[in-house]
Amino acid sequence: MEHNPELVVETKNLTKRFGRITAVDELSIEVHRGEIFGFLGPNGSGKSTTMGMILGLIAPTSGCVCVFGMDVTRNLPQILKRTGALTESTGFYPYLSGLENLRYFARITDGVSPQRIEEVLELVDLTNRARDPFSSYSLGMKQRLGLACALLGDPEFVILDEPTNGLDPAGMKEIRELVKLLGEQDKTVFLNSHLLHEIQQVCDRVAIIKKGRVITQGKVKELLNRANVLQIKTTENDAAFNLLTGKEWLTNISRNDEQIIFEIEPEFAYKVSAVLAENGIYLTEMKYRENTLEELFLELTGEAAI
Ligand SMILES: Nc1ncnc2c1ncn2[C@@H]1O[C@H](COP(=O)(O)OP(=O)(O)OP(=O)(O)O)[C@@H](O)[C@H]1O
Ligand SMILES: [Mg+2]
Repeated sequence: MEHNPELVVETKNLTKRFGRITAVDELSIEVHRGEIFGFLGPNGSGKSTTMGMILGLIAPTSGCVCVFGMDVTRNLPQILKRTGALTESTGFYPYLSGLENLRYFARITDGVSPQRIEEVLELVDLTNRARDPFSSYSLGMKQRLGLACALLGDPEFVILDEPTNGLDPAGMKEIRELVKLLGEQDKTVFLNSHLLHEIQQVCDRVAIIKKGRVITQGKVKELLNRANVLQIKTTENDAAFNLLTGKEWLTNISRNDEQIIFEIEPEFAYKVSAVLAENGIYLTEMKYRENTLEELFLELTGEAAI
């Protein structure tokens, strides 16, 4: 496979079967350098299995997966040196403290200095609790320690499996802020989640999967703007509504107290301002309705998200 250096992860027709179950089905995705990529799908849709194949923990049935342009099945050690991961089962020792756990993982990661351990503890806000046993940590603290561990080797690629699982809103926000911070540091982040809200807030691009297949992938902003529903406010809404009703270049017009709403192709949107201005009515606001990922997800997967 010829490599585009801007791609950190590239899978082609990646498939994994467990007996009769096809967990991942001809999956082709691209993760670009420096982006926060959301991998979104309902429970059991193949997110963790895909992540396992990216990390070389699970052997594909067919298809291929390249990280940094290298085939995972052949160049795993080189790939893992540049990658940090938070999996569903990062194994910490319960009786060791957070600090001791990190020291243990630092020994099996290349080039981690004692200062780096302090740094990652500070980053996830665990410095004050670093000497307490892992077993005494709350779920949020355990997840944060997992993230600290993934960041020990200062990896350029970070892959996180549902990092906010089981956390309360404040804990989720903390993790989200950390993920955003990684994005600002030009790291590439691959984030598995079934939480749309989370993906919508932190991710640049997203792939939505169902039953192991990609249903759609693209920039979050573009996916959300695809229905051309325009909302306008004007200096005279009654008159504007009457003027626009029946125009052949728009459909499904309706109004409420504040605004007028209709569907229109972007290339005709200028006609709205032109017609109104000719009649001495002026736009005070004009914007395309932003869909939420939640609506899109429901529409595409037919399943409710959590
Ligand atoms: N080791 C395994 N043996 C058999 N079946 C498996 C195995 N691992 C995963 N599966 C099956 O593959 C499918 C995808 O599972 P996977 O864990 O990848 O989904 P997921 O999207 O991560 O789900 P969740 O949101 O619940 O974490 C499921 O039907 C699951 O039961
Ligand atoms: Mg999973």
